[in-house]
Amino acid sequence: MNPIAEELNGVIQNSNPNTYDMLSNKGKQLYFPRGILSQGAEAKEKAFRYNATIGIATEGGVPMHLPSVMSSINVDPEQSLNYAPSFGVLRLRETWRTNIFDKNPSLSGKAVSLPIVTNGITHGLSVTADMWIDEGDVILLPDKIWGNYNLIFTVLHGAKIRQYPLFSSQRGFNLNAFEDALQKQALDTKKIVVLLNFPNNPTGYTPTSAEGKRIQEILINVAEKGNNVLVLTDDAYFGLFYDDTSMKESLFALLTESHPKIMTIKLDGATKETYVWGLRVGFITYGTLAKDNPSDIYDALEKKTAGAVRGSISNDSHLSQSVILGALNSENYPKEKEEKFRVMLQRVRRVKEVLANKKYSDVWEVYPFNSGYFMCLGLKTVDPEALRVHLLDKYGVGIISLGKSDIRVAFSCVEEEDITELFDIIYQGIKDVEKAAGM
Ligand SMILES: Cc1ncc(COP(=O)(O)O)c(C=O)c1O
Repeated sequence: MNPIAEELNGVIQNSNPNTYDMLSNKGKQLYFPRGILSQGAEAKEKAFRYNATIGIATEGGVPMHLPSVMSSINVDPEQSLNYAPSFGVLRLRETWRTNIFDKNPSLSGKAVSLPIVTNGITHGLSVTADMWIDEGDVILLPDKIWGNYNLIFTVLHGAKIRQYPLFSSQRGFNLNAFEDALQKQALDTKKIVVLLNFPNNPTGYTPTSAEGKRIQEILINVAEKGNNVLVLTDDAYFGLFYDDTSMKESLFALLTESHPKIMTIKLDGATKETYVWGLRVGFITYGTLAKDNPSDIYDALEKKTAGAVRGSISNDSHLSQSVILGALNSENYPKEKEEKFRVMLQRVRRVKEVLANKKYSDVWEVYPFNSGYFMCLGLKTVDPEALRVHLLDKYGVGIISLGKSDIRVAFSCVEEEDITELFDIIYQGIKDVEKAAGM
């Protein structure tokens, strides 16, 4: 093993041996190389004549650039064309962490790592899997999930996904099924991996505050009995909470420092929160209990994670990070965010009004939703894939079919005034498919 990795492992082991045990084999071997980067840093300080260490081209003391490139970029070459650090731009990481604290009151008085910047949340999940998931590890997820978890965890990292029903018969988070799944897993493996994605894709559900508290208790109970619990919170749609039925902060905040055997990892990003999907800026933030100064273990985990970034994409787009940092620091940002939130809120309200129509209850069940971009319908009479194809062919309407009975509707991309018609067309499409089947 590389001596730098050994050194980092020593720091993690001293600070929290459970956290060390939860690292994957790759995670244990990961490190951030000193070589070129530290030589470059030394040269920056001391090379007063010529600095021939930098891995870019420069001219006149700035990154070399073409006017045809710069004509469409409004950020100077140093902050756009030059490489960003593998850790991410420091000011962006600090600002994002401050925002995490501001938006999650339960973190008050706790310590979390500086976020590491990734190429969107997808890459963050993949780096997380590199760091923490070994082949054969089981990841507990509900039965309604973002399909890409299969590619990231199962195909690319050899993990197994075990699912529990997301909803109870009372139309809330299925606490009993969640607890059962954990207890069963606790009998099989010492390390338990739980992925919590709220607001949930595809259903748009976020647990109530009481459910959130109970989820926290269940996880602490399992840790108390001796299991190591790795909790990943995929907070892709964080902040889009539309009514009082949902908790308004991340479970990451409740679970961080809740037990020495609970390691929490927050995956989030500017992607959906700041409406910049293609800019590809996500973050990985750690929360763990540390025996000593928490900055020691966080520093070691950040270095390993940056090593995984360095070994996959090397570093994330500097231009994207600068654009987002500029937006976060803009005095107009809170107002602009609020305006877009209102647009989404109006759509959700409209969807709820439309779906209250009794005529629909013969053909679908509306799953609970209170947050995010989506909502789901459970079809009672027709196959969702047959409906999807029919809606596209006959009405030019696209929806997502999921499994044996569900469809997902993204109200995030339907104007408020079109919502009534959209659901009427879906309803009519069901009637057509029923008729064709002789029902
Ligand atoms: C639950 C969830 N996590 C992660 C992502 C991916 O986000 P990103 O575009 O930042 O990779 C998505 C996007 O659809 C998602 O729905």
